[in-house]
Amino acid sequence: MPRESANLPEYWDGYKPHRGEGEQSAPEADVFAWTQYDGHGPGTEFLGSPRTALELGSAEGKEAVHLARTGVLVTALDFSAAQIARARHWWDGTPGLTFVHAEACDHLTRTDTTYDTVFSIWGAIWFTDPAELIPLIAKRLNPGGTLAFSQAEPIDGYDGPQPMYGNGLAGRKLPLVRWSYAPYWWTDLLKRHGFTDIDAQVLPAPDPANVGTLMVRARTPA
Ligand SMILES: C[S@@+](CC[C@H](N)C(=O)[O-])C[C@H]1O[C@@H](n2cnc3c(N)ncnc32)[C@H](O)[C@@H]1O
Repeated sequence: MPRESANLPEYWDGYKPHRGEGEQSAPEADVFAWTQYDGHGPGTEFLGSPRTALELGSAEGKEAVHLARTGVLVTALDFSAAQIARARHWWDGTPGLTFVHAEACDHLTRTDTTYDTVFSIWGAIWFTDPAELIPLIAKRLNPGGTLAFSQAEPIDGYDGPQPMYGNGLAGRKLPLVRWSYAPYWWTDLLKRHGFTDIDAQVLPAPDPANVGTLMVRARTPA
């Protein structure tokens, strides 16, 4: 059972729904994308050269598949049963790739496994209190390991948890909380948890008037 958290996994069961006739086909896994804009931002090189990786909030699983195809042993985790079932249906049998149905903090608390990299693309790191999640990640990274994540550019002056109703304002109450912070805040938190080589910045959108991408990368001491 997923742990108690502000967010319910069922909200995510409907993420990227099937909109056509017949069986939904697997998305292309030919690109590893960190940002919301096609062809924009870095690819797998942002992770360095890991042998093992844990993705937190993998949903469809296409970035995990892409990385596994480069020879990295990838664990792709999501707490939505529907997302994990769909990803397994599409990608089971991919060498080096394992899907795990679990809540991020639960998994990191219970597992003994350590990873060369932990990454999250608009995933669990955006939807979990970083004060709880970051120390758990730090414990499960190998020495010299890399934490990397992306999410939407924060809105100036509004750091902190940002709750909304996931089902809209006339739907069943389904809280959805994102934790959004400015780059300096991430730098400070990561430093306090022993990370080094911290690089937290907003990558501007291709059109700088549009919403950019918060990109964060940090290492554990070697
Ligand atoms: C906005 S989606 C992003 C998914 C994918 N990385 C992408 O770029 O399409 C967020 C995903 O994170 C998962 N997620 C959110 N909070 C989580 C948590 N605490 N533990 C595990 N998965 C979580 C959701 O189920 C959802 O699939």
